Amino acid sequence: MSIIKGRQLIAEGKTKRVYLHDDPDKVILYFKNDITALDGLKHDVITGKGYINAYITKYLFEKLEKAGIPTQLVEYVFPNIIIAKKIQMLPLEVVCRNIAAGHLVKRLPFFKTGQQLNPPVVEFFYKSDELHDPMVNEYHIQALRVASEREISQMKDYTLKANLVLKDFFAKRGLIFVDFKIEFGRLTADNVIIGDELNGDSMRLWATLDGRRAFDKDGYRSGDALERVRETYIEAFKVITGEEPLKEGLES
Ligand code: C5P
Repeated sequence: MSIIKGRQLIAEGKTKRVYLHDDPDKVILYFKNDITALDGLKHDVITGKGYINAYITKYLFEKLEKAGIPTQLVEYVFPNIIIAKKIQMLPLEVVCRNIAAGHLVKRLPFFKTGQQLNPPVVEFFYKSDELHDPMVNEYHIQALRVASEREISQMKDYTLKANLVLKDFFAKRGLIFVDFKIEFGRLTADNVIIGDELNGDSMRLWATLDGRRAFDKDGYRSGDALERVRETYIEAFKVITGEEPLKEGLES
């Protein structure tokens, strides 16, 4: 953990810490082993999870970058650190859905779990644990002065492009890319890029259309034993990256 030793902590969330970097244009993202659900009401710690999620984020952000979609990624540092471009995070979550599941079905029950959504559905949520991340539309976002019209259009464009790249990549791995959540940050005025993370915590990834075998956080949300949840994260590492996780990382 030498890289963060003595560094100033500038922000802490449920699963990550952000530290100052010597370079003022960069920050250090430290992925914690914490796992949470229900807006933080459910909370546990899983050894190796920070490693798994930092590595998967790095792996998928590199895929996006190769496809011309800008992300915050600068460099990955084993086991659980990402050096990232310093950006001003917008208090929004952008969700993109290819298949109906989760809250979409709860909110709008005429959609049935497993139903294909074509075109994909893009939704915005305003980040607030105490308000349970309420859904907002493009007009709310502009009226709140959270993002400009151009930034909203960039967010939609990058989200849909990222969806195509990832859906295609996962299909080649025999997996169903159900939905995902990304967050954006402002790099310069009127110019946003993908930030934060992208891993099993922020997507639904199914092996079968009934969603019974999945490589994501839904098992934790629905009460699976922690050891089972840990195995699922390790499986996710393997199926997403096609690599074996390092023992030292899993023990970190
Ligand atoms: O819960 P919901 O069905 O709206 O989730 C849609 C997608 O967004 C899922 O992949 C879920 O993991 C992700 N999500 C997230 N963080 C939230 C809410 C949803 O990563 N706060």
